[in-house]
Order: sequence, then C-alpha cells, then structure tokens
Amino acid sequence: MGTTPKYIVIDSASGKIDRRIFSEQAVYDDEMEKIFGRAWLMIGHESLVPAADDFLHTYMGEDPVILTRDEHGRLHALLNMCRHRGNRVCRVDDGNAKRFMCSYHGWTYHNDGTLEYVPGESEAYYGALDKPSHGLIAARTETYAGIVFATWAKDAPSLETYLGDARWYLDTVFNRRDGGMQALGPMKWIEPVNWKTLVDNCSDNYHVPTSHLASARVQTRWLGRPALSHEDQFASPNRHAFVNGHSITFRDADDNLPRYVHGVSKETFGLFQEYHEATIPEVERRLGTFRARRVQLGNHSLFPNGILGLRLALPRGPLKTEFWHFVLVDRDAPEELKRVIRIGSQANNGAAGMFEQDDVDNWRQVTDASTSRFGRQHPQDLSMGLGHAGPHPDYPGLVSERYISENNQRLFYRRWEEFMNAESWAQIPLDPITARFDGTATMRR
Ligand code: FES
Ligand SMILES: [Fe+2]
Repeated sequence: MGTTPKYIVIDSASGKIDRRIFSEQAVYDDEMEKIFGRAWLMIGHESLVPAADDFLHTYMGEDPVILTRDEHGRLHALLNMCRHRGNRVCRVDDGNAKRFMCSYHGWTYHNDGTLEYVPGESEAYYGALDKPSHGLIAARTETYAGIVFATWAKDAPSLETYLGDARWYLDTVFNRRDGGMQALGPMKWIEPVNWKTLVDNCSDNYHVPTSHLASARVQTRWLGRPALSHEDQFASPNRHAFVNGHSITFRDADDNLPRYVHGVSKETFGLFQEYHEATIPEVERRLGTFRARRVQLGNHSLFPNGILGLRLALPRGPLKTEFWHFVLVDRDAPEELKRVIRIGSQANNGAAGMFEQDDVDNWRQVTDASTSRFGRQHPQDLSMGLGHAGPHPDYPGLVSERYISENNQRLFYRRWEEFMNAESWAQIPLDPITARFDGTATMRR
C-alpha cells in the first residue's frame, strides 16, 4: 500500500483547484525544495555572456547564482555563497572577471568555481583547509538554442528529455536561424502575485478579448492590428499542446506572412514581410517545411517558471514575484527590425506594457482571493474543455481540440502535484520523445 500523496490540489473530474496553494507559506517552502530544487530552470542566455570571463548574476528560484563563462568557453552556474561564512562573492548584475573575491575575509574563487586563494592558508589554517572541497556550489547546466538552463538535481534527466516534444514547437521561434538569437535586457520589477498565476496565464487565451479589450482597441486604431473578438477566438484553428509540464499555445501559421511578433504594425509590416521572405529558405532547411511554414509557437510556459520566451517569474515568497523580462531577437536580423521588436515588446509586455498592466491586475486579484479566509475555502474552476484533448496526428503532445481551453492549466497543476509529491526524479513521469524533428536544427542550434 502506497502512502497518500501530501498534495492533492486539483480534482481531475471537476477541474476544481484548491486556492491555498497560492498563499500558504508552508506550500511555498515545499515548492522551493521540490520544484525549484529539482527542475531545469531557465537562468539566462549565452548571448548575455558571449566572451571568455563574462558573467551574469541571476537566480534559481530564490537562490542567487552567477552564470559564468570560463576562459575555455565553458558555462558554469555557481551559487553566489562564499563557502566560508556565506557572503555573496558577486555584488553586481554582470561584468567580466576571472575571479570573485569575498569581501568578508577575502576567499577568492576562479570563475569556474574553484577556490583559488585563502588569506592565511598556511599561517591561520596551518595548511589544513581542504581547498578543493570548498569551491562554489555548482549546478548542472545545459543549453537549448542558446538559452541556458540549470538544475540542482543530480538525478534530473537531460535537458533534451526534460523539454521533450515541447522543443518541436519551441524551435519555431528559438531555433529558426543559423546565427541563433540574442537576448536584450532584462527589465526587472516586482509584482504582488503568486508565481503560478502568471505561469498558468500563458495558456489563458480566454481572457484576451475581455481583459485586453481597451489595450487592443488602441492597437487596432493606431497600429492597424486586427480587432479582438470572442467569436474569432472560438473559431480559431490555433491549439494548445502540453508536454512534461510545459504549456504550449501555437498558431496555424500562413506560409506567406511574417510571423506575428510584437512590433508588427501597419508602418512596420513591410520590414517584417521582407525579412520573412529573405529568411524562409533557411528556416525551412532548419525546421522542415511543415514547421517552417505552418507552425508558430504562441504564448507558452516552460515548467516551472519560464514564460513567453525568456521571461522569468522568480518567486519571492507566496505573495510576491520578481519578474525578469528579456527580449529575444534573431541575432542576424537587421538592426532596424531588432529595434522595432524591442520597442513593440516593451509596449506590450514590459513593466509599463499596456497588456502587462491588464494582466498584473488579474494575477493580483487571483492571489488576493487565495488569502481570503472564507473565500479560499471555495476552489477555483478550471473545467473548461474537460475531456476535449488528446493525441493529434500532426502535432505532438497532448493537444486541445479548441484554442480556448483550460486543458494546459489543469495539466500544469497536475505536474505541480507530481513534483510536490515525488521523493526523487525517479518518481516524476516523463513523456517519451515521439515528434519528428525534420530539418538540421538541433538542441544546441
Ligand atoms: S565569508 Fe567569505 S571569506 Fe569569510
Ligand atoms: Fe494577458
């Protein structure tokens, strides 16, 4: 007889979900260990540390981590905690350094994590300190198409297995060009929300014509964007797919039109069209005809906290999230196009982005509702589209029948339960890789 799992928060038959997981400190503490201590976490992008000895200060959950590139070009994710008493050995956001010196007593580490120098090693320590075992704590790192991931779990599967068939969709944005992508940013801010509210929102297209109506009307009027309507959304051929905790929404793209990204407007459309036509043969070689011409990744989240490209929802307590917003652009795109995408992205999803502000208001209220002593006894309802998802002949993963569905959200919380109830990675199920990855693109690029 197995023991009863500690966390049963979503009812599969009704789609009801326990609100307390958005506010309770004890749940949050378990999340830090069972989810953020185990999963592959997005921590940065290779383009942010392009040269030898470059570094970027980032986070794995709440833990401060230095992403470094050593003189041999290898990447390291190092816990920013001196092995002596624990001071941070790096106090800046980024830079170029061969070594990090702790400003408490001066222990000095090489940028691969090795403890190189200890003041008074022979005089004060009598030569008895075992330096090799006192290097900075290193996480495992791997990259996908230039995006750097790290995990504390020695028993975690490879990143390729972890992403699984989700990569089939991710490639359509992150792995399009031979030259890869370039990350700009980040812009950082803090939101009074539980980190899961914004992750599950990535598959919520239902809110768009309601929450974003005013913002969308402005964009329709001034930028020439299509008007939003529920009718269009319900009739949309686009879909959702779910793989290993990763929630994908994707568009049934038109061969002959540029991919939709922030920055497309009636003024800039020609620029995007020209770029699309100039690059489509390369993209087709890399991704095969179907993915290059007919599939475009839309809003998505990578379990647990990577959302919409390279944006990180960094937990800072049950009721607070630090948000990091990078903009990813094709490295070899014309500078003018990069500029237009950067500005368009900020206008939509930056700290002052019109859509972002609509969204934050929702997430804040969802979080607040979970703190209501009486209200939180009544669960959230995620029943939309129950029983209307399954395998699809053309698209990998568990695919929703319709674009507007809460299938991905339900499965996100199911994945959350799997992580929270597991003793080790051996108990966390992984979907086998079954997609056909046509074209030359690989995990590394
Ligand atoms: S705490 Fe870092 S050298 Fe003492
Ligand atoms: Fe939104």
